[in-house]
Amino acid sequence: MKAKTRSLSTQLVLSLGIVLSVFTIAQAISSYDLARVGVNAVLDSRLSNVAQRVRDLFEDAIPRRSAGSSNADDLAVLVWEPDHERPARTTDSAVVFNRDAAPGFSDQIVNREAWRVYTMVAPDNDVIQVAQRTSVRQRMAEESAVRGLLPVFVLIPAVWLAVFVCVRRSFRVLNRLGLQARAIDPAHLVPLSARDLPVELMPFVCSINRMIQRLGESMRLERDFISDAAHELRTPLTALKLHADNLEGDIAHSNKERFQALRQTIDRSSLLVVQLLQLARADSQLVEIPTDAVEVTQVVTSVVADLLPIARVKGIDIGADELAPARVCATESDLRAVVKNLVDNALRYTPEGGSIDLSVFTVHDCVRIEVADTGPGIPEEALPRVFDRFFRVNHGIEGSGLGLSIVRAIVLRHGGTISLSNRRGGQPGLRAVVTFPLVGREPLGQSGSDACAGHAAYVHASRA
Ligand SMILES: Nc1ncnc2c1ncn2[C@@H]1O[C@H](COP(=O)(O)OP(=O)(O)O)[C@@H](O)[C@H]1O
Ligand SMILES: [Mg+2]
Repeated sequence: MKAKTRSLSTQLVLSLGIVLSVFTIAQAISSYDLARVGVNAVLDSRLSNVAQRVRDLFEDAIPRRSAGSSNADDLAVLVWEPDHERPARTTDSAVVFNRDAAPGFSDQIVNREAWRVYTMVAPDNDVIQVAQRTSVRQRMAEESAVRGLLPVFVLIPAVWLAVFVCVRRSFRVLNRLGLQARAIDPAHLVPLSARDLPVELMPFVCSINRMIQRLGESMRLERDFISDAAHELRTPLTALKLHADNLEGDIAHSNKERFQALRQTIDRSSLLVVQLLQLARADSQLVEIPTDAVEVTQVVTSVVADLLPIARVKGIDIGADELAPARVCATESDLRAVVKNLVDNALRYTPEGGSIDLSVFTVHDCVRIEVADTGPGIPEEALPRVFDRFFRVNHGIEGSGLGLSIVRAIVLRHGGTISLSNRRGGQPGLRAVVTFPLVGREPLGQSGSDACAGHAAYVHASRA
């Protein structure tokens, strides 16, 4: 089952957004209730104010006989004189409240309608009642409370946006570290930068940097060992070769074949030692990248010329599709080692009658060197391992398993990239693509290699 990838920033945005939204909604609900209670209190005080005004100033202004029912939103004012069954004055003859209600506020049902009534007894024992329909009051309270809610609808999206922006800003430093960590490989064991780092991340970055340091140290020891061992082996092997050369004349005819096998073994061992030394040199951080440029096409044509006799013997058609002029900062021997190993592999693993296409072109800031053959290719599951030292797929054909390790070490040390892929579209074969930064350009970062890879897909599709 595929492990679920959890994003810390998404989790933070979600949890903070939800918590803040819940608080905002709770706050909105409580202010909604407060607004309703507040409006009811204001309306109550309005009823009692009107009652006082009527008692003190305007009792005579209330008509003795109202023409009919007042407007639904209006207050109804009733004045009762002592010992009378009907109100002496009223603004709404359609309603009659309970005159015996206790002084103060009461809720009464009149004509199947709820009313809020304020009852006051005047000094002359007249009873003054001021009332308002409960439905009108509720509508006013509701309208006022809902007006108070409107800002919340703006506030909640604003809260989410603010949380999102803040979390993104805080995570920028992690993204930066991620990019730095991605650029670390055996050829670039650079410690992570601790500049502008939050204290919480310091222990983590320090541990990673210590680990990078230890890794670099152990890789250096391993390289030194390989280089020393290869050096030590070179002298006895050269002596062995000399002895064999001297002996050649004295070997009886019947032993010639076995003697040739012995010489071949010595040659293979010498080649292995040379490759080990090449690998140690290519891996070494101490070897400076030259500032002088070398012309790629020249190196490619010279390698092809060197290997042409082998191609002829195997009946392999070797040719160049496109050789664009391009210069890279590298020594000729390094560039030659890269091209030679790739073409040598293509020749070695492509069966008789096959073909090898080479091309050199520039894309964006890099030079692409492609070697495509019509051999068997490499099984997909073995592709990630072919750059490992001594890793070989086809044991039936002679080799050391060091060629691609040397190529990769040289390419990475020069800030380039390498990729191997099987050709598609029914055509068997392997396509090796190497990129180097063009003279005067930065080493190929992620974007640079992506840009080059994009072009590779196009070239691949157009030819396959
Ligand atoms: N062009 C190619 N076609 C098929 N297989 C290849 C090709 N290039 C490399 N390989 C496979 O990758 C392995 C590793 O290659 P390399 O490192 O050059 O070692 P070597 O060639 O000495 O075996 C080879 O053993 C071979 O199986
Ligand atoms: Mg090889």
